[in-house]
Amino acid sequence: MTDRVIPIADVTTRGVPVPSEPLQSPTGPLIDRRGRPLHDLRISVTDRCNFRCTYCMPKEVFDKNYRFLPQAALLTFEEITRLARIFIAHGVRKIRLTGGEPLLRKDLERLIEMLAALTTRDGKPLDLTLTTNGSILHRKAKALVAAGLKRVTVSLDGLDDAVFRRMNDVDFPVTEVLRGIDAAAEAGLAPIKINMVVKRGVNDDQILPMARHFKGSGHIVRFIEYMDVGCSNGWRLNDVVPSAEVIRRIDAELPVYPLEPNYPGEVAERWAYRDGSGEIGVISSVTQAFCRACTRARLSTDGKLYLCLFAQHGYDLRALLRGGAADEQIAAAIAAIWRERDDRYSEIRGAATAGLKKIEMSYIGG
Ligand code: GTP
Ligand code: 5AD
Ligand code: SF4
Ligand code: SF4
Repeated sequence: MTDRVIPIADVTTRGVPVPSEPLQSPTGPLIDRRGRPLHDLRISVTDRCNFRCTYCMPKEVFDKNYRFLPQAALLTFEEITRLARIFIAHGVRKIRLTGGEPLLRKDLERLIEMLAALTTRDGKPLDLTLTTNGSILHRKAKALVAAGLKRVTVSLDGLDDAVFRRMNDVDFPVTEVLRGIDAAAEAGLAPIKINMVVKRGVNDDQILPMARHFKGSGHIVRFIEYMDVGCSNGWRLNDVVPSAEVIRRIDAELPVYPLEPNYPGEVAERWAYRDGSGEIGVISSVTQAFCRACTRARLSTDGKLYLCLFAQHGYDLRALLRGGAADEQIAAAIAAIWRERDDRYSEIRGAATAGLKKIEMSYIGG
C-alpha cells in the first residue's frame, strides 16, 4: 500500500464528548444507488496482527520495514463511539470490531463497554461482535463478556498443527486457539462462529477434520472461499475451492441440508447436519457474489470510511472529527457518501477489476 500517506500534521488527538441521548437521523432512511440500506458497520481497531496468514499479511510484504499506522493516527475510543452513534442514527444495527487482530488494541474492553451502551434506532440492543484470530482469547474472554460482548467469531484455518502453523506463518500452535474457543464458550459468548479460509492444496485437507471436530459443539464453522482482497497475497482463481465442492465433500460423510438465512443479506449460506447435531456455513464471495444485498460499511483504523471490501478509496471521517464538525455535519457527509454508493466488486470480478489497487484487508478490516 504505497499510496497510504499519513498526514502527520493532522494527527493531534482530542477527546470528543459523547452525549448519551440518541441522535436523531436528519436524513431518513439511507439507501444507496442499488437500493441497499446501511445496516452493518465493521470497525478496524488496529492494522497490526501477531499472525502473518499467507492470504492476508504475507511476511514478504508485512515485514519489519512495513509502516504500520502510528498511535496518533488511530481513532480514539471516543471518536469511534461518536461515529458509531452517528451510523446507528442512519440505521446501523450490527457493529463488528475487526483488525488486524482487534484484541491487540490496548484496553479494547473499554471500547466494548462504550459501544455496548448504545442502542439501535428502534431502541433494540446493538448486535456487537468481533472477529479474532483467537491467539489471546483465553486471556481476554471473561473481560470481554464483562464489558458487554455477546458473541465472537474466531478465525481458524485447520486442526492439524503443522498445517495451521504454516497458514499463520508465525509458528503459532493450534492448541492455543482451541483453548481460546473453549474459554470463550465458558465465559458465555454465543454463538461462536469459526471462520476457515480454504486454499486449495494448502489446507483443503482440513475441511472434514474441522467439520468433524466442531460437529455437536454448538459452534458454527464457516468455510470461506479464498478471496482476492488487497494486492499482496498473490491470489489465483485455481487456489479457490468453490463452496459447492466444500459442501459436496462434507455431505458425502456427514449429510447436510440447506437452511434459510437468519436475515436478508446474510453473508454465509447455512447448512444443517441431518442428524440434528448443528450447522455449518459457506461464504462464497468468488463463486456466488452477494453484493446485491450488501449492507456493510467499513471504518479503517485511521477513520476512513470504505464502501466495499475491495475499495480503492476511502472517505476521511477522521478529518471531519478532528476538524471540529458537528454530529449533524458528519451524519450528512455519511449520508451523501452512502447515497452515491454503487460498489459491487465481487459481481464484476474479472477483466474489469484486474490490476486495481485495492486496500489490504488488515487495514480495512475483514
Ligand atoms: P454474522 O454477523 O455472524 O452473520 O457475520 P458475517 O456472516 O458477516 O461473518 P463475518 O463478519 O465473520 O464475515 C465472514 C467472512 O466473510 C469475512 O471474514 C470475509 O472473509 C467475508 N465477508 C464478510 N463481509 C463481506 C463482504 O461484504 N464482501 C465480501 N466479499 N466478503 C465478505
Ligand atoms: N480471503 C478470504 N478470507 C480472508 N480473510 C482474510 N483474508 C482473506 C482472504 N484473502 C478472513 C480471515 C478472517 C477474517 C478477518 O477475514 O480468515 O476470518
Ligand atoms: Fe491476522 Fe486475521 Fe489477517 Fe491472519 S487473517 S494475518 S489473523 S488479520
Ligand atoms: Fe459488499 Fe463489496 Fe463484498 Fe460486494 S464485494 S459484498 S459490495 S463488500
